[in-house]
Amino acid sequence: MQQNYQTGAVILAAGKGTRMGGAVPKQHRLLQGEPMYMASVRTFAAVPAISEIVVVADRAHLQEVRATVEKVFDGDVSSERLAAIVVEGGAERPDSVMAGLTALGRDIRYALVHDGARPYATTDLIARVAEAAAKFGAAVPCIRPRDTIRTAEKTLDRSALYLVQTPQGFRKDVLMSAYEQAAQNGFAGTDDASYVEQLGIIPHLVEGEPGNLKITIPEDLPEQEADNEC
Ligand code: CTP
Ligand code: MG
Repeated sequence: MQQNYQTGAVILAAGKGTRMGGAVPKQHRLLQGEPMYMASVRTFAAVPAISEIVVVADRAHLQEVRATVEKVFDGDVSSERLAAIVVEGGAERPDSVMAGLTALGRDIRYALVHDGARPYATTDLIARVAEAAAKFGAAVPCIRPRDTIRTAEKTLDRSALYLVQTPQGFRKDVLMSAYEQAAQNGFAGTDDASYVEQLGIIPHLVEGEPGNLKITIPEDLPEQEADNEC
């Protein structure tokens, strides 16, 4: 289904991957022969609703990421259907998100923000988040926890809990305002929805995907890739 609003994607690939360790930040490790973040770039590029992709990279890898993205788009990173650019990120995730949002075109009304370390999101999930973002203004993919979750003191009511994923989708101007306000108030969250919630907005929940894992620690890598450090 073609949508008549403009939706862009910010793919975050500027982190340090401290918890993963290794010679290069985790999003640069090879998965099926390509740097991990490229899986997300390819999947977003295959979604008709997405007309722009901004990849946010760390300074040390900026040129390399640019070259890789250009190669995948066969030099044609700015067609009528889809444009792709690479920009430099910042020290913390919010800095990288803002760098990406700022680089999206002026005509982009909705933005999907995705972790470059989450290579398994499907075109179906991206399309559903894009649709929900346009309909509700804020959309977050979630799944139910399979394990019981507790604090040190007590077991929590699992039926009220969700595990949160990306891509999360928002009206771009609202998300940017949320980050600007958070910077003024000193608020720091671990996902984009928590920033928008500071404005009093309750995001719409979209069914996430059990396979949409974020690669965080070495055990999250598929076995055959675990030793691959380049
Ligand atoms: N990210 C980013 N810029 C930052 C920090 C994080 O673009 N300054 C990106 C990461 O590259 C990743 C996503 O945000 O794709 C989710 O962050 P996380 O899993 O925490 O990655 P890292 O911050 O790199 O890992 P760690 O927290 O273990 O250092
Ligand atoms: Mg981090």
